[in-house]
Amino acid sequence: MDRKRLAAEKAVGYVRDGMMVGLGTGSTAYWAIRELGRRVKEGLSIRAIATSKQSEAHARRLGIPIVSFSDFESIDITIDGADEIDDRLQVIKGGGGALLREKIVASASNELIIIVDDEKPVNQLGAFPLPVEVVPFGSELTLRRLQALGCRPVLRQQEDAPFMTDNGNYTVDCHFGQIGNPVELHAEINAIVGVVDNGLFLNMASRVIIGRADGTVTERLRQA
Ligand code: 5RP
Repeated sequence: MDRKRLAAEKAVGYVRDGMMVGLGTGSTAYWAIRELGRRVKEGLSIRAIATSKQSEAHARRLGIPIVSFSDFESIDITIDGADEIDDRLQVIKGGGGALLREKIVASASNELIIIVDDEKPVNQLGAFPLPVEVVPFGSELTLRRLQALGCRPVLRQQEDAPFMTDNGNYTVDCHFGQIGNPVELHAEINAIVGVVDNGLFLNMASRVIIGRADGTVTERLRQA
């Protein structure tokens, strides 16, 4: 079975009747939504909130009830993918362009389960360009300020125009090569006026599920 699907289906096993569930975005989260849809058809009763318009549309097609932030206090479990994950379960997300909604949903979740294939774990974050969501106004200046932090910033494009997030913002992919101090970098990036947020998800993942090429699945839990 597909490595991403293996991890996704394992994660959905943690969802119980009555839970409020956060739905991630991307090709791994796709499998989780699909499996949740299958279980809903079997009678599982959940409510869900999605981290992108794409995931919301997918969930609705499968009959998963979607609610808004006015309908609940907190989310029991969010299941989402990642672009890189280190040994301390610090994560880079946003490759799929949904980092802001993903971080809002993750921040409201009692448990964030990250589902990945075995190419995502790394010793040090940063080989994957760090996505940063910025407002379009003044973005040329914002890019220069990001560059001053030691990266090569690239404005993400789609069909010869800047890629637009679901929030009407741009995404800048910041090539750092390696990130020595994620906590410091996270604060420095978010201190730039014009930055909305960045793809470092620090101390947020409680569990990581890794689907492997040999068909096995391994789990890592965040140390308290
Ligand atoms: C979207 C994300 C995705 O979770 C991340 O890019 C991983 O994607 P995939 O599961 O397709 O490899 O952060 O913004």
